[in-house]
Amino acid sequence: MDQESITIIDNRTDAQYHIPLFKGCVRAADLRQIKVQTEDFGMMTYDPAFMNTASCQSSITYIDGEKGILRYRGYPIEELAQNCTFLEVAYLILNGELPNSAELQEWIDRVKHHTMIHETTKKFLEGFRYDAHPMGMVISTVAALSTVYPECRDVTDRETRRKEITRLIAKMPTICAYAYRHHFGLPYIYPDNDLSFTENFMNMMWKMVEPKYVANKTLARALDILFILHADHEQNCSTNTMRAVGSSLADPYVSVAAAAAALSGPLHGGANEEVLRMLDEIGTKDNIPAFIKHVKDGKGKLMGFGHRVYKNYDPRARIIKWTADQVFKVTGRNAKLEIAIELERIALEDEYFVKRKLYPNVDFYSGIIYQAMGFRPDLFTVLFSIPRVVGWLAQWEEMLEDHEQKIARPRQIYTGHDERHFVPMDKRGTGQPAQAVAQA
Ligand code: SDX
Repeated sequence: MDQESITIIDNRTDAQYHIPLFKGCVRAADLRQIKVQTEDFGMMTYDPAFMNTASCQSSITYIDGEKGILRYRGYPIEELAQNCTFLEVAYLILNGELPNSAELQEWIDRVKHHTMIHETTKKFLEGFRYDAHPMGMVISTVAALSTVYPECRDVTDRETRRKEITRLIAKMPTICAYAYRHHFGLPYIYPDNDLSFTENFMNMMWKMVEPKYVANKTLARALDILFILHADHEQNCSTNTMRAVGSSLADPYVSVAAAAAALSGPLHGGANEEVLRMLDEIGTKDNIPAFIKHVKDGKGKLMGFGHRVYKNYDPRARIIKWTADQVFKVTGRNAKLEIAIELERIALEDEYFVKRKLYPNVDFYSGIIYQAMGFRPDLFTVLFSIPRVVGWLAQWEEMLEDHEQKIARPRQIYTGHDERHFVPMDKRGTGQPAQAVAQA
């Protein structure tokens, strides 16, 4: 008997099935042979929210939730955050290897070549109310870009894909900055290709009347590290969305827009904005015990805590906490940080959180840094989307090149009515069961 297999005994029929394992997993399709009647559809798995289902094979990101490990293409996130720039890591995630100096410079030049957006796209942005949430603006504008580059629909052509991937990575900061400037009625700042990826984003965000924007190097580096930390995270909700939408061969712009829409939810990328709202609601350290009780009574969540995969400290949160110290040396300490640190200290000692393995995740401290750097809370998820577009696109391309993948179309367990028949209007609401009408 092949040791890489399991044997299932169906107690309904006493039949035995020897199921080969695939990399330690059961292929769900192999369960279809388990039937009671020959004409049965066969056995499925039932797994709401994919709590225990691998939807793909991927070589991009590795996470070990119990050990708090995160690696991009095998490199520990701690080493990448310490030694690389964001664009260098973006190259690694997209191509599988760290670039040499010539490859990196060519990649940087290519991205810089695509940072501008079509002038008509600015008019599209003008259509939003001044107080439109920037995430809604970004999602809509990214989708609209598919009309600016109609050739993007040829997703099976690698050269076309790579050009659109570069365009999206290059244009996300521009769109995000313009969404911010629109809110304040400020003129849009054109990209300055003398600056690094992150410094140029800060330039488009904050340049006023000075002839040339000069970024604070410490803050620019901190933002670069934050972008590295947010670049990919295997099959999270928004990446799963990117793969599902992309599996229908939809173009990369509408697929990224769908992924960004998923990211905007408060349980996912919207959590960093919710953390700030929570810290504002707590107000002072003295109020922390009452808030913890509120959470333990099931009346709310400790935003920025918990994770589907990490049942240990999110390694990104640890790096972000270190980065916060660097930022606050420039901006001055933030009262919210003190509340957050005290909140974390209490939560990590409290049985309710310990039993549920709830630790700070990537969103717990990131919002505090962003606010200290001058970003408004409604921009935090937008800031998450800028680097995460790299992960979405790398995972999208991996899906398209995976011969096992096809259009995503899960099954269901039907729990609705058996067949029933049309009820004429004058018979409805009589409480008379429909089938009686059919016989009438
Ligand atoms: C991101 O998937 C990714 O990789 C995502 C991400 C990425 O890089 O792409 O890492 C980014 O989305 C980080 C997560 C940001 N979200 C938040 O911080 C929101 C608060 N966290 C929770 O909503 C929650 O922890 C999730 C959504 C992150 C995870 O939810 P799960 O895995 O479905 O866990 P669960 O809801 O089943 O919770 C298990 C238990 C429950 O208690 P019981 O019903 O067993 O009594 O833990 C409780 C939950 O009520 N719980 C929390 C809690 N998170 C879970 N209780 C209080 N506060 C929390 N934050």
